[in-house]
Amino acid sequence: MTGQSALGLQHVRLGTYYVVPLAASDDFEEWRDHARRLLMADVPPDRVAWTEPGGSAGDLFSHGDRRLPVPGKDAQPPRVSKRFMEIARTVLLNSDPARFSLLYRVLWRLQAQNGSIGPRLIEDAADPDVRAMADMAREVRRDIHKMRAFVRFRVVEEEDGSEHYVAWFEPFHHILRHNAGFFTRRFANMRWSILTPRGSLHWDGETLREGPPATRADAPGGDPAEDLWRSYYASIFNPARLKIGAMLKEMPRKYWKNMPEAQLIPELIAGAQAREAAMVAKGALDMGERPQTLAAIDKAIHACARCPIGELHNTAVMGEGPQDAAQGFSGLMIVGEQPGDQEDLQGRPFVGPAGQLLDVHLAQAGIDRGAAYVTNAVKHFKYVQRGKRRLHQNPSAKEIDVCRWWVESERMIVRPRLVLAMGASAARGLLGRTVSISKVRGEPIPLEDGSELWVTSHPSYLLRLDGAGREEQERLFARDLAAVAARLAQLA
Ligand code: URA
Repeated sequence: MTGQSALGLQHVRLGTYYVVPLAASDDFEEWRDHARRLLMADVPPDRVAWTEPGGSAGDLFSHGDRRLPVPGKDAQPPRVSKRFMEIARTVLLNSDPARFSLLYRVLWRLQAQNGSIGPRLIEDAADPDVRAMADMAREVRRDIHKMRAFVRFRVVEEEDGSEHYVAWFEPFHHILRHNAGFFTRRFANMRWSILTPRGSLHWDGETLREGPPATRADAPGGDPAEDLWRSYYASIFNPARLKIGAMLKEMPRKYWKNMPEAQLIPELIAGAQAREAAMVAKGALDMGERPQTLAAIDKAIHACARCPIGELHNTAVMGEGPQDAAQGFSGLMIVGEQPGDQEDLQGRPFVGPAGQLLDVHLAQAGIDRGAAYVTNAVKHFKYVQRGKRRLHQNPSAKEIDVCRWWVESERMIVRPRLVLAMGASAARGLLGRTVSISKVRGEPIPLEDGSELWVTSHPSYLLRLDGAGREEQERLFARDLAAVAARLAQLA
C-alpha cells in the first residue's frame, strides 16, 4: 500500500512494527533522536511502540522490529517549532507510559501537508492530542514544584562525626534529575541525599552523584532536622506571593503537625507585608542569580512558577527584538502588560488585536517596531476559562512585582535608552509602584541606570472604547508615541 508521508514523500507501508526501547525514562534527547529517525523513514505513529525501563511494548508489538529503519537519502529533517519542543521536554517527564507515543503522534501530525493542519496544530488548544500534552506538562510542573516545596531532610551522623542530610520523597513523575540543580543550589554547602523510588541523588558539597531507586526503609526515621528546615522555609518564604487561601490549598493545615516549619507560619505572615515593602523598595525580589543572557531568561521564564499565573494552561512569552546597536537596535524597549490569548498561542508578544493597533500607531509615529525590543511586564497569560474562550484577567500588583525580576533582567541585558511602558501594569513593572497614567504621560521619568521611562496607555484599553472616547484616547496615544519618536531622534 502506498500513501502520502508526513514529509510529503510517497512511501510504501511495509507493515513493519517497530519497538523502540528507551534506555531512560526522562531523556528527552534520546526520544528526540529516535523520533527524528522514525519520522524521516516515514514510519507512522501507529507502527511504533516505545518502551522505557521496566515497561513492555504490548502484544501487538511482541514481534516488532527493534532495529530502527534507515531514512532514505532524500528524506527531509522534520520541521519542529520551538513551542512544541518546549512542551515536549516537560511532557517527557510525565510518568504516563503513553507520553512517548503521544509526542510522536503530535510530531507526525505537525508535519502533515496537503490541507491538513500541519505546523499550526500546536496552536489548537481544543485538539485532544494538544490538550493531552498540555495536561501532562501541567502535571509535571506541579510535581516539580511540590518536590521543591515538600522535601524534608533528616540528619544522620556519619562515623566520622559529620552530618549527612537525607530525605525521602515520592514524586509522581520523572522529575528527580530535572530538580537536581535546584537542590544543589539551594543546599550547596550541605552533604545530602534525596532518595526516591525512581532513583536517588547524592551531593557531597561539590559533586552530584546519581544512585539507584531506593525504598522508604533506606531513609532514616526519626525527627526531621527541624532547625535546618525552619531556616530553609524562612528563606524561601516569599512575601510577594503571600495569599493565605492559596497557601492553605497548597499546604493544607492537616499536614502542619508533621512540618516543623509550619510553626513559623503565623510569624512569617505577620512580617510579610513589611518584608515585601522592603524588597520592592530595593527594586528586587529574592529570586537567586540573575540570568546573563536573553536565552537564559527565556529558558527560566518557561520554568517559572513563582506566581499562580505560571500554573495555568499557558506558556511564557519572551520579549523579542534586536538588543544592541550592532543589530540595528533603536535604543527603544516597549513594554506591555502580559501576553494575550494570541500571544500565548503564538509565543510572541503583541501579535493579536492590541499588537495590530500598536503597529498602526508605531508606523504613524515613524517608529520601526522591528528595531525595538518588545516585551511584557508579566510573562504568562492570566485568564479565566469561559466555555471555549479564555478571558483576560488583570495581573495583581504582587504578580507584576514578582515578574519584575524578569523585565529588569531583560532591561539590564538590552540596555535601552528609552523604555515605553504601555498601561499601568507595565509602568508598575518598570517602577515597582503604581502611577496614574494621566499624571505621568508625556514626560520622561528618569530610571536609575540613566535611561528614561515614558508611560502611555495600553492599546487594549483603546480597543475597549468606542466613539468620541476612543478618538480622544487614540489622539493622546498618538501624541505620546510622537513624543517618544522625537526623543529617540534626539538621543540617536
Ligand atoms: N497585550 C499586552 O500587554 N501584551 C501583549 O503581548 C499582547 C497584548
